[in-house]
Amino acid sequence: MNKEITTEILEEWLENVRPYAYDGQVADYIPALSRQNPEELAVAIHYIDGSSIHAGEIEATFTLQSITKVISLALALMDNGEDYVFDHVGMEPTGDPFHSIYRLEQLPSKPLNPMINAGALSVTHMIHGDTPDEKVGRLLSFVHEMTDDHTIGYNEEVAASEFETAFLNRSLLFYMKQHQIVTGSVEETLDAYTKQCAIEVNVPQLARIGALFANEGRDLDSGRQIIPKHFARICKTFMVTCGMYDASGSFAIKVGMPAKSGVSGSVVASLNGFGGIAVYGPSLDEKGNSVVGLRLLELLSNRYDLSIF
Ligand code: DON
Repeated sequence: MNKEITTEILEEWLENVRPYAYDGQVADYIPALSRQNPEELAVAIHYIDGSSIHAGEIEATFTLQSITKVISLALALMDNGEDYVFDHVGMEPTGDPFHSIYRLEQLPSKPLNPMINAGALSVTHMIHGDTPDEKVGRLLSFVHEMTDDHTIGYNEEVAASEFETAFLNRSLLFYMKQHQIVTGSVEETLDAYTKQCAIEVNVPQLARIGALFANEGRDLDSGRQIIPKHFARICKTFMVTCGMYDASGSFAIKVGMPAKSGVSGSVVASLNGFGGIAVYGPSLDEKGNSVVGLRLLELLSNRYDLSIF
């Protein structure tokens, strides 16, 4: 395990990448996200031995957005098994933007992977629970187990703001309902999905989630298997092939870490034998990835030889 990285190094590097916060834009297609402060930056590393370091505004909370796609995939796999899940959602990267509807028009009309919105919506639909709140409650309990922090909840304002304006995600759901990928109420699945995306954490909590995946799904303190090793591996593989959307290829070359981003400006990376790295910086590039997050992960990867390839 490479533990040369110190708090002082993280602090210095965060200051070095700070100017890039003005290169991108805070997400505004979800109205509540447009109120995020682009100057808020934070980074945390949680090593698999349980120790951690961090720098920046580590108290700042943010909604996980697309990062929850990895968590919901793990739970859906545990609820339904691999065969069922991959009968409904594919395993291939798209090269298209995360909200694209285009590939759903090509038969067979199942979403290409669980990291694009269409795939993630179908995964949320698969999570066991009779009501949206039951599904979200199960997801939150799962996050509590992963972080050993039972205070984590979802941001109601962000969830409501997305629910009111998610016409594209509604369209994806209606399209998939037409093709029997999802059944039942579109509004209920969207309700569960928008609450899932609004699960709110800070970087130390997110880095611990990354570390749990890096630790083959085992709790960092007790060693208890929270996610079966095989499912944790599936999730990390999707992080490599589709975690940064249509920037996953360049990210793999420049940074080389299994990682997942969200439009709130957060990124989590998960490195076997090392741990989890979480970065928060709400300013996004044109693909929807945190500008500062990408810069910082690239610096860390190059300096400490962290690429898995
Ligand atoms: O469904 C959406 O559009 C958002 N709740 C999540 C999208 C997202 O985070 C894409 N990330 N880069």
